Amino acid sequence: MDSARFLRDYWQQQPLLIPAAAPFDNPLQPEELAGLALEPGVEARLVREQAGDWRLDTAPLNDTSFDGDEPWTLLVQRVDHCVPAVAALRSWVSFLPSWRLDDVMVSYASDGGGVGPHYDNYDVFLVQGEGQRRWQLGQRCDSSTPLRDNPDLRILSEFEETESFLLNPGDILYVPPGLAHWGTAVGPCMTYSIGFRAPRLSDMLSRWIDGMLPTVDPERLYRDPQPLVGARPGQLTDAAIAAAQAQLSALLMEPGSPDWFGELVTEPHDEDSAEVEGPLPALVALDPAARLAWRRADNGITVYANGLAISVDDADCADMLATLCDGGCIEAGVGQAHRALLQELWNTGCLLDDG
Ligand code: SIN
Ligand code: CO
Repeated sequence: MDSARFLRDYWQQQPLLIPAAAPFDNPLQPEELAGLALEPGVEARLVREQAGDWRLDTAPLNDTSFDGDEPWTLLVQRVDHCVPAVAALRSWVSFLPSWRLDDVMVSYASDGGGVGPHYDNYDVFLVQGEGQRRWQLGQRCDSSTPLRDNPDLRILSEFEETESFLLNPGDILYVPPGLAHWGTAVGPCMTYSIGFRAPRLSDMLSRWIDGMLPTVDPERLYRDPQPLVGARPGQLTDAAIAAAQAQLSALLMEPGSPDWFGELVTEPHDEDSAEVEGPLPALVALDPAARLAWRRADNGITVYANGLAISVDDADCADMLATLCDGGCIEAGVGQAHRALLQELWNTGCLLDDG
C-alpha cells in the first residue's frame, strides 16, 4: 500500500480494497477466540441471523452458545489488549496517527454469518484472517439514515449495494466512516477490524470550555455591537446575537493550553486503569491497552498518558516516545536519560515489562 496515496485519495473519503501483499499468518485460532470470549472482563457479543433479520444473543456466553443451525457471528472487542500477535497487526497502520487507533476487534462467523447491513462512525480496516468473506458496500449514511426497529443492533432499513468484494486471508478492505457495509461469511471465517476512533465535536467543545473557564476573567463582559443601532423595546437583534458569538469566538481563539485535546483523545476505555507501584523493569513497551500521545510544547514536550498531561522540560524524549507509540521496546536501565519519565509512565499503568 502506497501510504501517501492512500492518505490523499482514500483516508476518510473512499473505500479501498488492499489485496494481500504476502502470505498471511492468521494470528489467532477460532478456538482461542472462543476461549477468550468466555473470560471475565472481555467484551464479547454473539449475533444470530434469523429469517433475514439479526439479533443480539443476550444470554451469557458459554460452551453451548455456538450450537444451532442459524448463521452466527462472535465478535470480541479489544483483542489487541490481551493477545500480542493481534496487537502486532497495529503496525500495519503505523502511518496513521496512533492516538486515533481504538482497538482490534476480532470476529468469527459460521457459514453465512454476519452482523447485517450497517454503518460505523469510525474508520475501519477489515483484515481477512481465515476463510472468505463477501463484503458489500453501500450508500453513505448519517444519523438521519433509517434503521430497522432493533434495539441492540443498528441495522439499516435499506441497503443500496454499490460494489462487492470477496476477501481472502490477508486481504484488507478500508471502509471510511458513514459508509454502509455488509459482510457475509463464505464458509466459516475470521475477520480482524482495526478501528480508529474520533472524538465527538460535542465532547471536544465541552472539554475545551471546561479547561478554559477557570482562566477567563469574570470582569470581561459582553459589549454591544459598535455602533449600536436602535431597536424596538425588548427586541433582541441579530446584531446583538452576532456580537455575542463573535466575542466568544475571539475568546476561544486566544492562546491557552491545548492539553484538553491530548487528555481527551488518550482517555482509556477502562475508567479504572490501575496505577502501578514499584520499580521500573529493565525493558519496557507500551501496554496495548494504554493510550499515549505527545506534542512539542514551548518548553519541551507534553506527554498525554491515559488521559493525564505530563510536562517534560527536555525535547530529547521525542524519539523514545515515538518508539513506544510505534510498539517498540525501550531499555530502561541505569544510564537511560529519560528514566524519570519512564517511571512516571510505568506508574500510570501505560507500560508493560517486556523483559
Ligand atoms: C464483522 O467482523 O463481522 C463486523 C465488522 C464490521 O462490520 O464492522
Ligand atoms: Co462495521
